[in-house]
Amino acid sequence: MMLMCGRLRRLFRQLTLQTSLLLLFIFCMVSVLISAYFLYGVKRELEPAGVGGVGVPEEGTADWEDPRATPSPPSARVLPARTAKPADMSRTDPVVLVFVESLYSQLGQDIVAILESGRFRYQTEIAPGKGDMPTLTDKNRGRFTLVIYENILKYVNLDAWNRELLDKYCVEYGVGIIGFFKANENSLQSAQLKGFPLFLHSNLGLRDCSVNPKSPLLLITKAREVEHGPLPGDDWTVFQSNHTTYEPVLLARGRSTEASGAPGLLHAAVVQDLGLHDGIQRVLFGNNLNFWLHKLVLVDAVSFLTGKRLSLALERYILVDIDDIFVGKEGTRMKVSDVKALLETQNELRTHVPNFTFNLGFSGKFFHAGTDEEDLGDDLLLSYSKEFWWFPHMWSHMQPHLFHNQSVLAEQMLLNRKFAEISIFMTHLSNYGNDRLGLYTFKNLVKFIQMWTNLKLQTLPPVQLAQRYFQIFPEERDPIWQFDEPHLFHQTSEDTDTFFRSHPTAVWRSFVILGTTALYLFLGMHPDLTSNYPSKETFEEIQFFNGRNYHKGIDWYMEYFPLPSNTSSDFYFEKSANYFDSEVAARRAAALLPKAKIITILINPADRAYSWYQHQRAHDDPVAQKYTFHDVITAGRDMPIKLRVLQSRSLVPGLYATHLQRWLTHYHPSQILVLDGQMLRTEPALVMDKIQKFLGLTNTLNYHKILAFDPKKGFWCQLLDGGKTKCLGKSKGRRYPDMDVDSRIFLREYYHEHNIELSKLLYKMGQPLPSWLREELLHSR
Ligand code: A3P
Repeated sequence: MMLMCGRLRRLFRQLTLQTSLLLLFIFCMVSVLISAYFLYGVKRELEPAGVGGVGVPEEGTADWEDPRATPSPPSARVLPARTAKPADMSRTDPVVLVFVESLYSQLGQDIVAILESGRFRYQTEIAPGKGDMPTLTDKNRGRFTLVIYENILKYVNLDAWNRELLDKYCVEYGVGIIGFFKANENSLQSAQLKGFPLFLHSNLGLRDCSVNPKSPLLLITKAREVEHGPLPGDDWTVFQSNHTTYEPVLLARGRSTEASGAPGLLHAAVVQDLGLHDGIQRVLFGNNLNFWLHKLVLVDAVSFLTGKRLSLALERYILVDIDDIFVGKEGTRMKVSDVKALLETQNELRTHVPNFTFNLGFSGKFFHAGTDEEDLGDDLLLSYSKEFWWFPHMWSHMQPHLFHNQSVLAEQMLLNRKFAEISIFMTHLSNYGNDRLGLYTFKNLVKFIQMWTNLKLQTLPPVQLAQRYFQIFPEERDPIWQFDEPHLFHQTSEDTDTFFRSHPTAVWRSFVILGTTALYLFLGMHPDLTSNYPSKETFEEIQFFNGRNYHKGIDWYMEYFPLPSNTSSDFYFEKSANYFDSEVAARRAAALLPKAKIITILINPADRAYSWYQHQRAHDDPVAQKYTFHDVITAGRDMPIKLRVLQSRSLVPGLYATHLQRWLTHYHPSQILVLDGQMLRTEPALVMDKIQKFLGLTNTLNYHKILAFDPKKGFWCQLLDGGKTKCLGKSKGRRYPDMDVDSRIFLREYYHEHNIELSKLLYKMGQPLPSWLREELLHSR
């Protein structure tokens, strides 16, 4: 017994020494491993398979069961860690935030094209490497309803702070994320997506694609039999996981050339994260949008993740115009058999699209202008006239805008009309005669849509179709004037047309000021800057982009500017105070003048509100006469509507961050200059120096010499020859009592959040904060 105890003690002594050494060794190894892990994780975009602790399915086993064959019992998988919050639509704006790799990246443009085709609102941002996440909320309201990453790794590798910010936002507002993983030659063959129980295998070739019929996101996309054949490219990434949160959307088999796994295994090329892992729903694509099915699935993913908020109905209208059928040369026109085929195809299409009817455009003069055989085709078409819809062109196929003489135009139109009464029609015949590519295209298009989508095709005659179109997209009733589309030139008179064709730079070298008359006056003193002619109604302002004048068209706008031949100026400019806070001006201005420079001048929004109120009083506005400024700004919901309108006119334009943000969604920050209105009052020459620099004017004026302070007016004015001054009229720079203290305090509080937002925006734009803004921010501490 004693002997045994002695041995044990010795053993124990030896053991403690060995154990300590062993523990020390293990400790060192663990710390080396931990630091290596973090270093590796930060540096590399992905983790190699096996590091994350979630079991990697064995080599050679399928990633996913074939969902069309076997139902997958949810209990067989890991239990959900959490559930995704359903999107609360009332709490976010219906805008998609798209993080692109660069302004020109192809996938980014493809994503945007899909959003635009659905008329969905979006904001693109270059995916930040570090920091610089756009503001996600606006007064407890989410600014975005969905986030799309062109490169999902930019999301996965966000710095911890921004990642938490974005994830919290997504969870709180029920916002989903869509991401694309595009492998390149540096991508790891197999890796775990950092922080997710999801494995990626990259650079694979795939074939035989199928849609998972159980995928909850399917709307347009129809799950059907396998589409046999290879998928484009051999740089696919597929997703693999044991976690119930992942549901495959698109499945495909590996091609025999692939390195990982035996050929023929089912892989998920698009996977849906149901949000059971971290409360955020995601859809991940293992390639870009070059594969056509990805485009369909993206449309469905947008619809699903936004709770159908950004989604179009399944009904789609199709109308096929066949243009100029008789205008073609002999040998390219429709013969009897082509006309028969046209009618047969129409009948066949009617079995898929109720009442489908070809819409034929015609110019009567060219009827019977083919070979004998083709003229017989014309005759047959004529006998089928009631079977088709028709739309008349000019009799001799000239474009109406080319007619300068109205009576000749009317004569030509009448000729064709006579012809139409006996129902003779024309189409773009070359794809209906000869190769019949038109018929082939539409038959197969309709078949394809029925096979792969749940869309319900319908048709309507042109006018009804136009009405339906505007019912679906009411905002498009409003025209958008542009110069870059050649056919829109036709909407302008010849003068304007020539003006912009011969002087395209005149359009680019324009700028718009969103601010005060004083600036307008000072700019007009520069020989290289040409302002607009004054308007009878609105004086120096044209007020084109913000209001009803916009509907008067481009010609109307351009009449306010001299023709380039009459001026040697480099720049045209106009100023309208209402542009800055207008909901529509930025979009319209950017469509017409995408290269314009924008100058905005901001004073303290509290002073702006007060100035506006005083302006109204001076113009005998009865409401402004009746109520004090304090009454106006503090008016509650139950106050008279007129008072509330004056209140909103006083206060809303001062929400500068919101308005500036709107301009920033249409213009690049480098095109926008934000000036300090306070400085314009006290040191206008300095402000003018900044503007000349911003515009890149080579001929710089020394405003220090041509402006003078007028003590009588109390403002800076233009210095004329002989020492006199030319100041702004009586209505500018009026004298009125200072704002009362209570109103000042109220407004400081009212604008507090917005001023903070404005300072953030200006910081991001790299522009200095106006002095009044710095003061306000100091006060609010
Ligand atoms: P107040 O009249 O409230 O003082 P707008 O042209 O947009 O109506 O702006 C008029 C404001 O421009 C005036 O507001 C005035 O404060 C400001 N301002 C700045 N510089 C000026 C100047 N040199 N002459 C007159 N007003 C000037």
